[in-house]
Amino acid sequence: MDFLTSTTHMHITTWVIALILFFIAALSGKKMKAVHMILRVMYILVIVTGLSLFLEWRDKISESGMNYDMKVLFGILVIGFMEMVLVRKNKGKSVNMFWVLFGIVLLITLYLGLSMGIGVNF
Ligand code: HEM
Repeated sequence: MDFLTSTTHMHITTWVIALILFFIAALSGKKMKAVHMILRVMYILVIVTGLSLFLEWRDKISESGMNYDMKVLFGILVIGFMEMVLVRKNKGKSVNMFWVLFGIVLLITLYLGLSMGIGVNF
């Protein structure tokens, strides 16, 4: 499926929308159930578009094999910590630790994505 793998646009679109929905839900004073539900659909699209890029490009980009695997791992961790922040916030539990972990894995994920093979490459 060329539209998923010929550029990184689909992947970028899905995770940008996911981040926006996450910040709306996380920073609002209310529970934002509908936003959280749409965000969970976006998680699936982020994973589908990311895995498509991974399967297409991993073996074609020789210098970044291990980094490619790490990108997938950290991408999934970002999603995991977004979910932890929202679920704990809705239960009234403390979320500070998970905000910090979310921030760290997000920065690592952005660095790995932007420093590798295809798409934008610094
Ligand atoms: C919210 C989570 C995520 C963020 C913020 C994110 C961010 C990024 C960024 C910034 C890029 C570089 C795009 C470009 O260079 O044009 C990228 C590429 C990529 N992402 Fe993600 N991603 C996330 C989740 C995932 C997941 C879950 C997977 C796999 C299941 C994944 C797999 C990939 C792959 C394989 C690439 C291509 C790397 C390359 O050669 O440039 N990402 N992502």
